[in-house]
Amino acid sequence: MVAKTSALSIAHILRMKDAGEKIAVVTAYDFPTGRMADAAGIDVILVGDSVASVVQGRPTTLGVRLEETIYHTEMVQRAATRALVVADVPFPYCQLGPEEAVRACARVVKETNVGAVKIEGGAKRAETVRAVVEAGIPVLGHCGLAPQSVKAQGYRIQRDLDRLLEDALAIQEAGAFAIVLECVQRDYAEEVTRKLRVPTIGIGAGAGCDGQILVFHDLFNFADGEPTERPKHARVYRDLHKIIDEGLREYVSDVKEGRFPNDTESFGASK
Ligand code: KIV
Repeated sequence: MVAKTSALSIAHILRMKDAGEKIAVVTAYDFPTGRMADAAGIDVILVGDSVASVVQGRPTTLGVRLEETIYHTEMVQRAATRALVVADVPFPYCQLGPEEAVRACARVVKETNVGAVKIEGGAKRAETVRAVVEAGIPVLGHCGLAPQSVKAQGYRIQRDLDRLLEDALAIQEAGAFAIVLECVQRDYAEEVTRKLRVPTIGIGAGAGCDGQILVFHDLFNFADGEPTERPKHARVYRDLHKIIDEGLREYVSDVKEGRFPNDTESFGASK
């Protein structure tokens, strides 16, 4: 039996930048959404540690456990036939240094068969990225706003071009195959994109990046439906909150009023 592998290779993702073909990325955390993203032509699916806020109801991403990353990644990896699946390494494995990071990343790959991991942080994380790449695990970098450093940095748009360039170049030289740029002033993101050999994937970083990523639950207004909670960059493509809310209310009223189930939804007496 030949084991199923993701069809899109790292080399393919790199060629997309050279060919000027934009890279479409979305997060997913389970089998059905992973399968839908894959079937819709998404190139890369990130099992983000954003699972903390949009699925687990946690206030930050800091509480995600490695076992939870493995649990969600395994489902998404099983669903994908074409997309490259990437697992987001949760806090604090990569902050603990190269050895801990390699151990955690190797465990994620071994237990999920995922194609790559994402490591958050700039130049300070370069040694760790290099060690993980040398262990044979492809790394997606992540510069700009770093939610895993929220306690030190808060959630702020990144407006320091020199720092951003230094971070992104260090992560590229450490061997990352692409770099997420989160919440970065758009002209700076464009400049970084021009200067890097590897693709940039923007979120709140303007249209000049080589690709774009959105959080699944933002794309479908599925987290908690409060417009004030949604980030400025998150365009809502369909309002699942509204659809599900209406459906649930109708179901409640049908049950209460005896309209559900009807005869065709019930089993007759056996003869
Ligand atoms: O966890 C996540 O979803 C992410 C994206 C926002 C890039 O890191």
